[in-house]
Amino acid sequence: MSEEMVIAVPEAVARAAHIDRAKYQAMYARSVSDPEGFWAEHGKRIDWIKPYSKIKEVSYDAEDLHIRWFHDGTLNASANCLDRHLATRGDQTAILWEGDDPNESKAITYRELHAEVSKFANVLKALGVEKGDRVTIYLPMIPEAAVAMLACARVGAIHSVVFGGFSPDSLANRIQDCDSTIVITADEGLRGGRKVPLKKNADAALASCPSCKTCVVVRRTGGAVEMKDGRDHWYHDLMLAASADCPPAEMRAEDPLFILYTSGSTGKPKGVLHTTGGYMVYASMTHEYVFDYKPGEVYWCTADVGWVTGHTYILYGPLANGAITLMFEGVPNYPDASRFWQVVDKHDVNIFYTAPTAIRALMREGEELVKKTSRKSLRLLGSVGEPINPEAWLWYHRVVGDERCPIVDTWWQTETGGILITPLPGATDLKPGSATLPFFGVKPMLVDNDGNVLEGATEGNLCIADSWPGQMRTVYGDHDRFIQTYFSTFKGRYFTGDGCRRDADGYYWITGRVDDVINVSGHRMGTAEVESALVAHSKVAEAAVVGYPHDIKGQGIYAYVTLNVGEEPTEELRKELVQWVRREIGPIASPDLIQWAPALPKTRSGKIMRRILRKIAANEHDQLGDTSTLADPAVVDDLVGNRMNRA
Ligand code: PRX
Repeated sequence: MSEEMVIAVPEAVARAAHIDRAKYQAMYARSVSDPEGFWAEHGKRIDWIKPYSKIKEVSYDAEDLHIRWFHDGTLNASANCLDRHLATRGDQTAILWEGDDPNESKAITYRELHAEVSKFANVLKALGVEKGDRVTIYLPMIPEAAVAMLACARVGAIHSVVFGGFSPDSLANRIQDCDSTIVITADEGLRGGRKVPLKKNADAALASCPSCKTCVVVRRTGGAVEMKDGRDHWYHDLMLAASADCPPAEMRAEDPLFILYTSGSTGKPKGVLHTTGGYMVYASMTHEYVFDYKPGEVYWCTADVGWVTGHTYILYGPLANGAITLMFEGVPNYPDASRFWQVVDKHDVNIFYTAPTAIRALMREGEELVKKTSRKSLRLLGSVGEPINPEAWLWYHRVVGDERCPIVDTWWQTETGGILITPLPGATDLKPGSATLPFFGVKPMLVDNDGNVLEGATEGNLCIADSWPGQMRTVYGDHDRFIQTYFSTFKGRYFTGDGCRRDADGYYWITGRVDDVINVSGHRMGTAEVESALVAHSKVAEAAVVGYPHDIKGQGIYAYVTLNVGEEPTEELRKELVQWVRREIGPIASPDLIQWAPALPKTRSGKIMRRILRKIAANEHDQLGDTSTLADPAVVDDLVGNRMNRA
C-alpha cells in the first residue's frame, strides 16, 4: 500500500459480507475476461418474462455505435420491484416515508405499494397513456413520486422526472424536448417548513407546452391552486375509481424505462435514456453488493428522486432487492442540524448514503449535534455526487460512524445508470478521498489528451473501455449528440468527462470535471446553461461562468458579466441577475459571485480564455500560466484587480 492513510476492512465486516476480498478478485477477473459468461449468470438475478439468450451486443465505433444487453429477453421493471416480492414479503415495508415535519411518517408495505401502483397504472391508461409515451413527473419527495414512476414502468410508458427545484422554464424545456403529453405534479412541496409552488410552476410551464394536455395533481399541503377544466385532475379523485388489478406490460430488454435530463457542456440539457433489462440488472446488483444489503435492513439514500441517485438507489435497486427503502421529504437542517441522525435513530437505519456537501455543511455545525444521537443501528455509510475531501471523509467516519462503519465512496454518473467505481465493504481497504476500485464488469482507463492509454500510477482523462449493462443507450431524440459527447473525444472509448488519478495500488481518485461542467453541491451544472440565462437578460452583453472552490458546495458558481454600453453596474443589478438566473433555471444555478467585467479575456481569434477566468475565480491569479495569446492583456489586469474571491 502506498503512503496515504489506509483503513483496512474490519475482519467481522469481511466475514459477514456478501463479497470478501478473494471473492471480489475472482469475480472481477471473470467479469472482465468473460463478460458474456459473467452477465449471462448475473442477469438472472431479476425476473424475466421471456428469458434472454443474447447477452451483450456492443460497438463503441462511432460509425456503428450501439449498446444492447439481454436483447431478446422481456420483462417488466415494476413487476421486478413489486409483484416478485408479494409471496415472500408482501407485508414487509417497502417504502418508509419520513415527512418534512418530524411528526409525520408512514410505512408502506410491498402489498400496499403494489396496489397503489396498479391503480395509478390504470389511471394512466384511462388518461390515454400508452407504451412508449413520455410522462413528466414533477413531484416532491412523497410516496406518490415512487407510485407514479413505477406505474409508468408498469404500462411501459417512459418517465421523465424533473427535480422540483427547477423553474417553470426548465420544466417546459424538458416537457417539450421529449414531447410529453402529461405531467404529474403536486399542489405544493414542503421542504424545511417552506412551501414550494409546484402546481403554479407547472401552470407557468404548461402555458408554453400546447401539446401537453393533461395534468394530474397530488394534494400534498392543501394549498390553494387553480385547476384548469378539462386539463387538470386531482390524483386522489382518479385513484378512487381505479381498479387495483393491472397486469404489467411485457417489455423488451431494450425498451426505454426512463429519460433523465442532465447538464453538459452546451446550453441545452441532454435527455439521458436508460432502457429496462440491463439497467434493472445493474441497479439491483450494485445496490446489493456495494451496500452489502441484507434482507430486513433499513436503507436510506438521502438523494431526491429528481436525480439519478434517487432513481437507482432509492427506487429501482432497493425495490428490486425487496429492501426497506427510506424516503425523506425534508432537508438536513430542519428543524435543526441533527435531523439526519434523529431519523436514523427513529427508524433504526442500518445503511446511510448521502453527499459530501451535506456532510461538510453538518460538520460545520459541530459534533455535539451528532453525538447526542445514538446511531447504533448504523453499520455502513456511503458518499456520492462529488469528490469527498479527506477531512470530510474522516469526520463522517469518526463522528457519524463512530469508526465502526466503513464508507463506500461511490463514483458514477447519470449516464452510467449505476455505480462504477467503489469499495465493496467486505472486500476493499479504504483510503479517504478515493472511490477505490472498479465494480464488476467495469474497465476504467486513463488516457492523455491525445488518447494514449496511460499505465500504472498516473493521472489523465477517465474513460471506460467497454460497456456495462446499466449504461445509457442514447440521448433522447439525438443519437448523434450521444456519439459526439461520449465517444468522439477518445475513439472507441466511453469518455466520462472526469479527470482522475490512479495510485500505485490501482486505486482511482476522481479529480473533478475536465469539461465545462461544474459540480455545485453534488449537482451538475453546465456553465453554458448559466451563461445563456445571463445573456438572456436585457442589460447583459456577454457572460462567462466558471466554478471556483467552495467550502460547503464543493464548487461555487462565479460569473463574469459584461453589461451593455450605458448600463450601470450596481449592487441592485447584481442581485437582480442572481434572481434572474434562479427564475430562469432554478435555485441550484444561482451565481455565488458576479464580477463586472468591462471585457472578457480572449484570444486573437475571439475565443474566451476560460483557463484564466478559472484561475482568477480561484484566487490563483499568480498562476495564470501562458498569457501570450491574449488579444488584450489589460483585460486580465482589470479582472485580477477587481476579483471577488479574496478568501
Ligand atoms: O464528476 C463526477 C461527479 O459527479 C459527476 C456525475 O454527476 P451526475 O450525473 O449528476 O451524477 C451524480 C450522482 C451519481 C461525475 O462525472 N461524481 C459523482 N460521484 C462522485 C463524483 N466525483 C467524485 N467522487 C464521487 N464519488
